[in-house]
Amino acid sequence: MAPKAAPKPKSYEEDRDATGQSSIYTASNGAPAPHPYAAQRAGQNGGLLLQDFHLIDLLAHFDRERIPERVVHAKGSGAHGIWEATEGLEDLSVAALFKKGATCPVTARFSTVGGESGSSDNARDPRGFAIKFRTPEGNFDFVGNNTPVFFLRDPAKFPHFIHTQKRHPATHLGGGDDATSFWDYLSQNPESVHQVMILMSDRGIPDGFRHMHGYYGHTIKLINKDGSWVYAQLHAISNQGIKTFTNEEAATKSPDYGQKDLYYAIENGDFPSWTIKVQTMTPEQAVDAWKNKGINVHDLTHIWPHSEYPLRTVGKFTLNTNAKNYFAEVEQAAFSPSHVVPGIEPSADPVLQSRLFSYPDTHRHRLGTNYHQLPVNQHLVENAANFQRDGPHALYNQGGRVGYLASHDPVQFAPPKQDIDKVHAPFVATAVSFLSTIRPEDFNAPRNLWNKVFSEGERERWIKTVSGHMSTVQDKEIIRRQIAIFRQVDNDIGTRLEKATGVKGYDGIKGMKFNGAHNGISATVIPANGA
Ligand code: HEM
Repeated sequence: MAPKAAPKPKSYEEDRDATGQSSIYTASNGAPAPHPYAAQRAGQNGGLLLQDFHLIDLLAHFDRERIPERVVHAKGSGAHGIWEATEGLEDLSVAALFKKGATCPVTARFSTVGGESGSSDNARDPRGFAIKFRTPEGNFDFVGNNTPVFFLRDPAKFPHFIHTQKRHPATHLGGGDDATSFWDYLSQNPESVHQVMILMSDRGIPDGFRHMHGYYGHTIKLINKDGSWVYAQLHAISNQGIKTFTNEEAATKSPDYGQKDLYYAIENGDFPSWTIKVQTMTPEQAVDAWKNKGINVHDLTHIWPHSEYPLRTVGKFTLNTNAKNYFAEVEQAAFSPSHVVPGIEPSADPVLQSRLFSYPDTHRHRLGTNYHQLPVNQHLVENAANFQRDGPHALYNQGGRVGYLASHDPVQFAPPKQDIDKVHAPFVATAVSFLSTIRPEDFNAPRNLWNKVFSEGERERWIKTVSGHMSTVQDKEIIRRQIAIFRQVDNDIGTRLEKATGVKGYDGIKGMKFNGAHNGISATVIPANGA
């Protein structure tokens, strides 16, 4: 009599619980196999038999275990939890997840950006901050970073910038051994200076993933039933507070410090949580911000000052469950800014618009065309139907439902929750003509950081970090240019950096030409400590 087969997991949850479950050893076709090491041979010392499916299948599956790592954000940690809209945002958006008291499951993934999958969690690098909200209206993904601004506002620059942090094509050395490309890029693209100021500051190396804030970064639109909308910035404020490492502390930590810290905090019941807050601007306020304050809501190198656009609490998410299987639940997670729900729309920010394409595109490459059918990426909407069919690993192929819009189709169409025409009405008042024209306003927030936010001790550490980082730059011209950019922030930075690097920089960026940006700066140098 054939042995009773091991019960197949009926659900994702049962599969997650497979640990320790008593089971019967089989080949992948379910046929019982005598032992994992048993091989079929032609006699005692003879060759292996091609018919030995169990052995060949074992090796063939092993040969295919690796999938492409994420091209950026390859090293990361994740966990599951719960969202609760403690305050809600019903007056501004029809999104079900913002209804006061609404709850839904979430999955979060935190990451470094530039390093490979096995690299250190303690790099001086921004941190990725991604949360998948499984709402009753579909999945909404918050795919942000731990800094409110970014290095660029022209999406075409992203692959160039990222390549400066990948291994050199000839030497195969990474940025730790040769930072020439990194600073070469920055010295040609001054709009990066705000993010660089933050990256090189005391906030540049978070202590694990629990003690950092998350920022959506881009402006989005919150939509009401009648199609009226406001611009919004979403922030996730860590309820654990901010903790960071110095360069020296970071160097002593294990490369998997962030993973260990998050995993064991959750395992020990010390559940980390973040409060989601929102800043908003009406379309009229956005015009005023552009005309009178130099703030372009479609430019993610700038922040919205909290004093003028106050933060309002929406709710909180708490991570309370570790993945039981990292590959299935974290590596295969597919976040995308294009995963939005009714009541939330992307703005016209060109970087955001490009990301809407890039993420599903990379998921199709990394995980396959049916990536959304993987358990961790599935939505929770009941009775959902569409006309996508087949492809590799089509786990849910919608049975006998026809794959075209039939004359008597059983598929129902829900009436739109928002007035779509109004939502997509063009708004041109803040359009930028060239995506990276450098303006005097680009230096205001960095100058504020240097003069009003950093302490004297932090300024000294900043100079040490930057000059140390520049020590492997092989072309002094790059340093001369970068000093000019920092001098444009404040003379004081230029003078101190010249001393620390031993390189005399240019006086300011007036008259300089950049291969990555139009230079709209007319003043030579900003006076020291002149805010
Ligand atoms: C990951 C592209 C800008 C945050 C990724 C991935 C790609 C990508 C291809 C890998 C995704 C995967 O394999 O699952 C781009 C492009 C950008 C851009 C083309 C600009 C044009 C940004 C910005 C932010 C950001 C501005 C933050 C505000 C993230 C995060 C992840 C990620 C958090 C990791 C998501 C995860 O944990 O799976 N990006 N990115 N990216 N990106 Fe971007």
